[in-house]
Amino acid sequence: MSTPVAYSRQGDVAVLRIDNPPVNALSQAVRQGLSDAMDRAEADAGVKAALIVGEGRAFIAGADITEFGKPPMQPNLPDLCTRIEASPLVVVASMHGVSLGGGLEVALGAHYRIAQPSARVGLPEVHLGLIPGAGGTQRLPRLTGAEKAIEMITTGRQVGASEALGMGLIDKIEEGDTEAVGLAYVQDLLAQEAPRRPVSALPGPDAIDWDATYDAVLKKGRGQISPATAVRAVQAASELPFDAGMLRERELFIELMGTDQRKGMIHAFFNERAVGNLPELKGVAPRPLKAIGVIGGGTMGAGIATATLLAGMQVVLIEMKDDAVEAAKGRIGGNLQGALKRGKISQDAFDTMTTKALTVSTDYGTLKDVDLVIEAVFEEMSVKKDVFGKLDAVCKPGCVLASNTSYLDVNEIAASTSRPSDVIGLHFFSPAHVMKLLEVVVADQTAPDVVATGFALAKALGKVSVRAGVCDGFIGNRILSVYRTAADHMVLDGATPYQIDNALTDFGFAMGPFAVADLAGLDIGWMTRKRKAPHRHPEERVPTYLDKLCEQGHFGQKTGEGYYLYEKGKRGGVPNPKIAELIAAEQRDLGITPRPFTDEDIVRRYMCAMVNEAAKVVGEGIARRPLDVDMTLLFGYGFPRFWGGPMKWADIQGLDKVLADIEAFAKDDAWFWQPAPLLRELVASGRTFDDLNKG
Ligand code: 3HC
Ligand code: NAI
Repeated sequence: MSTPVAYSRQGDVAVLRIDNPPVNALSQAVRQGLSDAMDRAEADAGVKAALIVGEGRAFIAGADITEFGKPPMQPNLPDLCTRIEASPLVVVASMHGVSLGGGLEVALGAHYRIAQPSARVGLPEVHLGLIPGAGGTQRLPRLTGAEKAIEMITTGRQVGASEALGMGLIDKIEEGDTEAVGLAYVQDLLAQEAPRRPVSALPGPDAIDWDATYDAVLKKGRGQISPATAVRAVQAASELPFDAGMLRERELFIELMGTDQRKGMIHAFFNERAVGNLPELKGVAPRPLKAIGVIGGGTMGAGIATATLLAGMQVVLIEMKDDAVEAAKGRIGGNLQGALKRGKISQDAFDTMTTKALTVSTDYGTLKDVDLVIEAVFEEMSVKKDVFGKLDAVCKPGCVLASNTSYLDVNEIAASTSRPSDVIGLHFFSPAHVMKLLEVVVADQTAPDVVATGFALAKALGKVSVRAGVCDGFIGNRILSVYRTAADHMVLDGATPYQIDNALTDFGFAMGPFAVADLAGLDIGWMTRKRKAPHRHPEERVPTYLDKLCEQGHFGQKTGEGYYLYEKGKRGGVPNPKIAELIAAEQRDLGITPRPFTDEDIVRRYMCAMVNEAAKVVGEGIARRPLDVDMTLLFGYGFPRFWGGPMKWADIQGLDKVLADIEAFAKDDAWFWQPAPLLRELVASGRTFDDLNKG
């Protein structure tokens, strides 16, 4: 069998070249190959040093994540790193691209490290629900001290070569062929008779306030446990001899490997990549994407224009009146200023984006050369149809016509043009230049290459794209409206909005639903309630207490009063005492005796409502796979990544338990809690949502 580690000799140096595309992950074969090649080098007469290099785009991207959760295979990575370090040869790693996780740990097992100026290193295991498990928590702090190591490990941040040099993590930066610069460095070391320099022989890092650091990292993790666990592993590097520290690291690593958080985060890792790969688009070429039109320069239009400019495209934005043109320019300029301030773009790029690359006009005729137009005008079908009529008249043949509508029927919009196959929904999230999610809404007649163009645009903008079918709210907003309703019901029945927000932030959401409502503006929900009132099912329970607050002109954060009271200049708010009074009055009117809810009850109901609606969305084909729902919630709705998404959460709980809960809740409100047929089917056949992802 061919080995992914090639062995060659350059004079008195053995060169070990790892070649395991695409990113040289440390599969069993690579570990075995490295171990064998070290044996061979040590037995090879006249060899004084070993140089490890990587083929392709990275030195080594880390352990092979596909092996996690499966029975371990020898040689294991920590032993391999220790074996490399213990070699009587001088071992040098020559790094390019990324050296991540186990990749950096292999390099730390070497005695010297040289890197390309563009190389980046990091220990990103926390993003997989883990800690470094091959000596990273023991060797890194011996080089950098505890604080820097903890910062790197708990954030999983990638560090550039010059910063790594400053931290003492690498020894030299040299541009050129990795093997050539590595060999020259080895020759220098040999000429100087530089000694082998095992990091494990260095003293452990000085102590810091471990408990305070642990607490701070735990708090920052919002429920995620691996970063705080990493602090304890680094503590072991300080307090224990190297070998005992390694054992402690191993123990903590294995503990985390068995957690649901690890499963959730690895589900997120792979599906974040899988979600944009649609089998139906294999071989379908997208249309060109050089110049983009945007209609409407409000919150969304300006955000979309910003994202598109940042991706290096030309933008033509259309507004209704001259003052709206100026306002749109101001919004885009403000967004780009932010990017400039944060060092994301240069002054030159800023100047180009705000002048040459951007045209803002009231004249639809300026759209004649654009490749794709995204409409982001008011959420009114008549307005949208009017705009699409104009686009149909001015846009060149083959131009993709997209709507950013949140809820409206994309089929109806498409039917208002003479070219429905060119029409698609591209649903961005606010702020559009920041939020990662794009729902690509495929209407009945949308052409495959138009769908491919939607996905290509998302990729160009650095977004995660999810295919959605047409229905009220598509994937995300449809599911949102149901779990929000579950929260409203709990308030009517006795939980306070604040208890619900707290329970859900403890679960891992960035914000609770009532704080989010205050941020988005309570007027939106108020208008929706009024719009939907005439068509409401008699059994639908809709609280009206909030309408009274809205009638007084209180719309949440923007007016200073909502579920919470906000003081100018202060972040966050305090509970608004009026809310408790309004809820109590409504409960009296409805004859409800409030009952207590535990935080667990709250999470369970909220999550069951989410999962049940998500199962309907998948069952109806609006989302093709459960993973599409998971990625929608993760990247558009602040769902905690360490759960992997609501479907993964449900799989982890056991679908039978989720269904049993839904059936129990249905005893009080059978209209709201109608179990999804797909959920019943999966439970009956003993399958999981994840099984459907594989099919
Ligand atoms: N194991 C297995 N597969 C991996 C992998 C890994 N460590 N890293 C990347 N891949 C796969 C991806 O799934 C993807 O597969 P696909 O083409 O079938 O979708 C392919 O390699 C290319 O990856 P990307 O599309 O992400 O390519 P990019 O160039 O955008 O990014 C990267 C490259 C920066 C290396 C990025 O893939 C990445 O961050 N990988 C994960 C790195 C990581 O977390 N390493 C730590 C692993 S845990 C560990 O080492 C434990 C140890 O301490 C014991
Ligand atoms: P907005 O009210 O901030 O902006 C709409 C803009 O469109 C206004 O500046 C208006 O002058 C302009 N406009 C209206 N008719 C026009 C026309 N015929 N030609 C040119 N410009 C016209 O609205 P917002 O929030 O930006 O929403 C726009 C669309 O995006 C809506 O369909 C909305 O449902 C959707 N959306 C909104 C999100 C949000 O969080 N605000 C999130 C995702 C989608």
